[in-house]
Amino acid sequence: MSVNDDFNNQLNAKAQFVNDTLSRLVAAQTDIAGDLKEAITYTLKAGGKRVRSALVLWCCELIEGKINRNAEIAAAAIEMVHTYSLVHDDLPAMDDDDFRRGQPTCHKAFDEATAVLTGDALLTLAFEILAKEIDNPAVAVRLIGELAQAAGPAGMIAGQMADLKAENGQGGREILEYIHTNKTAKMFRCAAAMGAICGGAKDSEFDRLCEYGLKIGLGFQVADDILDVCASSEHLGKTAGKDAKAGKVTYPSVIGMEESKIFGEKLADEAITALEPFGQRADRLRDLAIALLKRTK
Ligand code: IPE
Ligand code: IPE
Ligand code: MG
Ligand code: MG
Ligand code: MG
Repeated sequence: MSVNDDFNNQLNAKAQFVNDTLSRLVAAQTDIAGDLKEAITYTLKAGGKRVRSALVLWCCELIEGKINRNAEIAAAAIEMVHTYSLVHDDLPAMDDDDFRRGQPTCHKAFDEATAVLTGDALLTLAFEILAKEIDNPAVAVRLIGELAQAAGPAGMIAGQMADLKAENGQGGREILEYIHTNKTAKMFRCAAAMGAICGGAKDSEFDRLCEYGLKIGLGFQVADDILDVCASSEHLGKTAGKDAKAGKVTYPSVIGMEESKIFGEKLADEAITALEPFGQRADRLRDLAIALLKRTK
């Protein structure tokens, strides 16, 4: 078995673990009913790659040597926030996409109002589970703070706003980096931070993992832009070729395809450099940086 196969098996195992946790958490919400429950379940069950939640788990494992219950909850919470962001990103008022995770988007399968509310529900539910399920109040407050900051108006929302404002406009490299850092990289930094917090990392370890997360997160969006140009909709499970049509500011559109690939490699290198103090214990995270660089979906 190649290193790559081994890594993919490990990622699949983490994805399965997160899927089980999400199913249990949603099933326990007996007060959610009707279309809303159906739409939440439809959206979560579609099964994304679960990269951010795996990052939470791997960072906890790196620090503590195992996954604890807090990391399991944190992983589910960040996956809920990420999934909400996709439901809203696909709305007609935003990217207007009909296809996501291999199936019709939430607003296509249900309707726009239900998709808005499903996103709202996933976002708030994430914070509810952090408040209720984390076993230590100080840890809960830190996790809530990190997730709110990364997903909020000085994080993902800022990036999404700038992404929409830049459509069909002049976008230089500076604005591009601003958009991608905010809309995507900060959530990856947050995943690393949450795992580090759950594992009880020292400040120096926390900082290193955050730096790693930010670098792979920016690289992740560079790859997303590249795949939008190079991959097929069937393979991606979402509509390819949309960025150019929508006049999005992307790495390929601003610096070209070759430079984008080189920049992605540089970010993966820098991410791996940030892991140096951990030695071999961080091999899984090194593999992740490489796998995200080489991903085809
Ligand atoms: C898509 O994220 C949105 C971006 C930030 C590029 P993913 O590629 O992680 O989507 P899923 O969760 O696997 O569907
Ligand atoms: C989305 O970026 C980033 C989010 C915060 C959801 P994109 O708009 O490029 O993501 P896709 O390509 O639709 O998945
Ligand atoms: Mg978008
Ligand atoms: Mg989009
Ligand atoms: Mg994209």
